[in-house]
Amino acid sequence: MKKQIKVDLGDRSYNIVIGKNAITEISKLVYNFSKIIVITDDIVYNLHYQCIKNFLPQHQTIVIENGEKAKSFTVANNICEQILQHNIDRKSLIIAFGGGVVGDLAGFVAAILLRGIAFIQVPTTLLAMVDSSVGGKVAINSLYGKNLLGSFYQPKAVICDLDFLATLPNRQFLAGYAEVAKYGFIADNNFFSYLDSNYNDILQGDERHLLEIVAKSCQIKADIVARDEFELGDRALLNFGHTFAHVFETETNYSGEILHGEAVALGMAMAMQMSFKLNLIDKSQLDLALNHLNKLGFKLHASYFRQSWLVDNLVQHLFKDKKNQHKQLVFILLDKIGRAKIIKNVDLQLFIDVLKDFI
Ligand SMILES: NC(=O)c1ccc[n+]([C@@H]2O[C@H](COP(=O)([O-])OP(=O)(O)OC[C@H]3O[C@@H](n4cnc5c(N)ncnc54)[C@H](O)[C@@H]3O)[C@@H](O)[C@H]2O)c1
Repeated sequence: MKKQIKVDLGDRSYNIVIGKNAITEISKLVYNFSKIIVITDDIVYNLHYQCIKNFLPQHQTIVIENGEKAKSFTVANNICEQILQHNIDRKSLIIAFGGGVVGDLAGFVAAILLRGIAFIQVPTTLLAMVDSSVGGKVAINSLYGKNLLGSFYQPKAVICDLDFLATLPNRQFLAGYAEVAKYGFIADNNFFSYLDSNYNDILQGDERHLLEIVAKSCQIKADIVARDEFELGDRALLNFGHTFAHVFETETNYSGEILHGEAVALGMAMAMQMSFKLNLIDKSQLDLALNHLNKLGFKLHASYFRQSWLVDNLVQHLFKDKKNQHKQLVFILLDKIGRAKIIKNVDLQLFIDVLKDFI
């Protein structure tokens, strides 16, 4: 069974197709292009390239080294030159085949080549299926921080073939699940209850539940993006837990010591604690939410990842957060499970207090 979700953005609308064997759908989408370029990483290439190859007409394939380091100007430039060497035109198509790194990088390349050529996202990690492939944020990293060079550039389609998840290491699957739980926390209490009742089957990779959680996550993100494509308001709610997460990711230099999703789970626990300290949520809601993350096996204390952390360094990273306005701290907090709010002008001391509870 397959599900289809529309991201409603006027003449830039597109569909997300989700299901087992959904990759077959790609042949219906690629017939009208003058040239097709598949961008993937070495791991995905070795595991799954044959699956996609069979459904594409003649194409060029570019394989990058897996890992966050690929989101650089050097790699982006290299890819552009390899593509331009083959005389592309504005009717060419890029297919991003991989996790969030490949999606962000290939989308960035698509946005700048000839001032923009079409691209399709074929995500292969849970995180990419439920988050990075949807919504059109494309980016590479700068020496000064992550995702600082980029654009809003929507794909023509997203194809989430759940079969790809079978090869994903457990640690990566759980990291992706953090974003799934996030949607329950920020937007849908019923979805949270569903996750809390079925987490065991989900972790076992039960097909029916995988289809449900990917589809529901994409639907929630699609609705938010349709309301606020360029993050002028509500889209910031999707950053729940991310402000805390970024300070740990920056401190570890995005080395993989703490994965993005692991940092988000820890960050969500901290954001809930902050919500509790501000009397936005009560103790029973806090316990319910934290219990869920604990049952899943998330490490909700930063000492699991590194024995000691320097508060001063973490605070410095906090001030680089893109959400801050005129040096005032902005956090996404919960006022109950299923409803998030943007809270401005948060006291730095409160951030430090919460930080100290978790490091
Ligand atoms: N654009 C957005 O809105 C957005 C949102 C969230 C995250 N991101 C970005 O996404 C990136 C993280 O994405 P990610 O977690 O998918 O990481 P990733 O792309 O690095 O993938 C994680 C690892 O899994 C491997 N892999 C991918 N698919 C696999 C499969 N099916 N089986 C086995 N191994 C597989 C990859 O080779 C890689 O080693 C970050 O760069 C982050 O900034 C972007």
